[in-house]
Amino acid sequence: MLGDMDHYRDLWAEPASRAMDIAGVSPGWHCADIGAGTGAVTELLARRVTRSGRIYAVDQDPQSRDDIADIAVGHTQVIALTQAVEDLTLPEAVDLAWCRFLLLHVWDPEIAIAAMVASIKPGGWLIVEEPIISAGRIDGEPFSMPEARHPDIGATIAGLVRRAGCEIEEAWAYAPVGAGPGPVADLLEDLTGVALADESVMLSPLVTVVAKTPQ
Ligand SMILES: C[S@@+](CC[C@H](N)C(=O)[O-])C[C@H]1O[C@@H](n2cnc3c(N)ncnc32)[C@H](O)[C@@H]1O
Repeated sequence: MLGDMDHYRDLWAEPASRAMDIAGVSPGWHCADIGAGTGAVTELLARRVTRSGRIYAVDQDPQSRDDIADIAVGHTQVIALTQAVEDLTLPEAVDLAWCRFLLLHVWDPEIAIAAMVASIKPGGWLIVEEPIISAGRIDGEPFSMPEARHPDIGATIAGLVRRAGCEIEEAWAYAPVGAGPGPVADLLEDLTGVALADESVMLSPLVTVVAKTPQ
């Protein structure tokens, strides 16, 4: 999906770390990373829950299992599952379910969120991180992602999470900005193959919603 994943991981690690702090993710937690892809969120979670915890890394694409296997080295509690979020069936109810850059691709985000909520223990945590693609800018021009079903889903996830019965603890948007060489330009080149000169870039804001499921 991406070339050099390091830029991608570093740029979005900040809101992920803040979300984990708010939820209080700790050693021993059992978590699910839904739409895990190459495992960037899985890796951050694995570091927090340590060997006494467990992460289910779920993706509908079997390729993800190979990528997760690399992440799992040194984190023996990472378990890769090939499932669509719509059919999510975990071996146990988890303390936390998380998705990032997933809902923009699914047919029905409400169904996906309901499946995630159903996989969490009562009083557990749901973290949803999704972009507002069209709010990103290169030299003032809006980004677009024609292949995404819901490119601006980030703007509506707070309401979706609340309507799924969860109580929002905190929600915010995060948008790295840059010009010239640096991680923002590197990420865009990874994603689009286009090398930028000195254009101003604001990446599409990533909206993070941290919420609790009902008791
Ligand atoms: C853009 S990647 C995000 C990867 C990762 N969450 C991250 O933030 O780095 C989206 C992932 O969602 C997966 N995906 C898309 N639709 C899905 C669905 N309905 N159920 C499960 N996974 C899905 C894709 O296979 C892909 O790996």
